[in-house]
Amino acid sequence: MAPQLIGQPGTSRAVVVKGLRTPFVKAGGVFGSLTSLDLGAAVVRELVERADIDPAEIDQIVFGQAIPTLLAPSIAREVGLASALPRGLEAHTVSRACATSIQAFTDVASAMALGVSQAAIAGGTESMSDVPIFTSRPLSRALVKASRAKTLPERLRAFAGLKPKDIVPVPPAIAEYSTGLTMGESAEKMAKENHISRTWQDEIALASHQRAAAAWKTGVFDAQVMHVPVPPAYTSTGTTDDIVRPDTSLEALAKLRPVFDRAHGSVTAGNSSPLTDGAAALLVMREDRAKALGLQPLGALRAFAYAATDPGDQLLQGPAYAAPLALDRAGMTLKDIDLVEMHEAFAAQVASNLQAFSSPEFARKLGRPAPLGEVDPERLNVHGGSIALGHPFGATGARIVMQALDALARRDKSTALCTVCAAGGLGAALILERV
Ligand SMILES: CC(C)(COP(=O)(O)OP(=O)(O)OC[C@H]1O[C@@H](n2cnc3c(N)ncnc32)[C@H](O)[C@@H]1OP(=O)(O)O)[C@@H](O)C(=O)NCCC(=O)NCCS
Repeated sequence: MAPQLIGQPGTSRAVVVKGLRTPFVKAGGVFGSLTSLDLGAAVVRELVERADIDPAEIDQIVFGQAIPTLLAPSIAREVGLASALPRGLEAHTVSRACATSIQAFTDVASAMALGVSQAAIAGGTESMSDVPIFTSRPLSRALVKASRAKTLPERLRAFAGLKPKDIVPVPPAIAEYSTGLTMGESAEKMAKENHISRTWQDEIALASHQRAAAAWKTGVFDAQVMHVPVPPAYTSTGTTDDIVRPDTSLEALAKLRPVFDRAHGSVTAGNSSPLTDGAAALLVMREDRAKALGLQPLGALRAFAYAATDPGDQLLQGPAYAAPLALDRAGMTLKDIDLVEMHEAFAAQVASNLQAFSSPEFARKLGRPAPLGEVDPERLNVHGGSIALGHPFGATGARIVMQALDALARRDKSTALCTVCAAGGLGAALILERV
């Protein structure tokens, strides 16, 4: 294997100096009137203030969202401008569906390894309350034709032939373009093909809620989550993740009806991540620069990997392909990992990936001599995951990175594996270590 530039202790290694996120709240809730840009700008502004760093130190901002804001498609640049960072701060926008802010993080880390960045903001944002609404193809064709018309009758004729259904607005589909299946349907397919029981799914969901509730109660999230007063009236403030249910139970979860296959399914509102609004950001620096400024990093990126599988096969199995690559690149095995942070799109996806990690058959499929191994449930998502905390697509990756590093520090442990599955059959995996 070629030597890698990323993750070498000393000069050019990327370290996370600070992380911050907004509360993650159910779409249509307290952040219902805010845009992705509002949320992203709020978190970046506060992150830089809390980090107590001269904004002039920061040389780039890399930010993204999964569902683009059509009025501000260069969201990274707009977040930089709206968060009162220097107007000369360069920026680029990234998108890798649910792994978008993992991509932002590895982009800045790669730039640091190449010596072209010293300090950067990486993150993501998503407002599922403010998704772009499209017109149907016939209506959009008619609108384009009408805009070119020279006379009123010609303009009116452009709309002739439209049917009532053509007028209905079209929301963005949380579905695969290549297969037409929604994420939920794909999770259902995985549950069936991998024989993941409803009980196992509900147990994963219950653990997510119980751990997230315990983390909130014991102050784990106090330093990771800011308060967001909501403009223009500022009479309401987002202060806490509002999806966490401290009182849910296996009995309550078992009563919920399947959503994506009502007759024979097992994926429910309780064992799925919900549609969520929120933003998260990381201040990332070259290790030598952080040291020179007297900043104590939370941890470093040791290795990362992305992988893809056929979306028509097991859409959300990407982590099981990416994790072995990231471990190989770190020169580690699963045994060297203290904590695992796995994005919970659906409990069925978490279970399917854990099953693949320990499956000799899956290892053979990857051409590997042995499976990665079992993940001890006590080391998995120790402060809850996306089912309970919510999943603003673009922000989840940065949430996972800061949560993993914080959890390592609280337990005085060293290494974490973070994984995120993403649309298109993509998977992301990071190896983080404390410094
Ligand atoms: C699954 C999904 C359709 C559910 O949406 P929803 O119907 O708005 O969900 P709700 O929060 O209203 O929950 C439905 C019901 O389940 C109940 N419920 C949800 N979670 C529960 C829990 N943990 N314990 C007990 N009850 C629960 C709710 O109280 C609600 O009950 P009610 O109808 O009596 O009010 C939606 O969250 C979704 O689309 N998620 C997937 C998002 C996705 O694809 N993400 C991509 C991942 S990569």
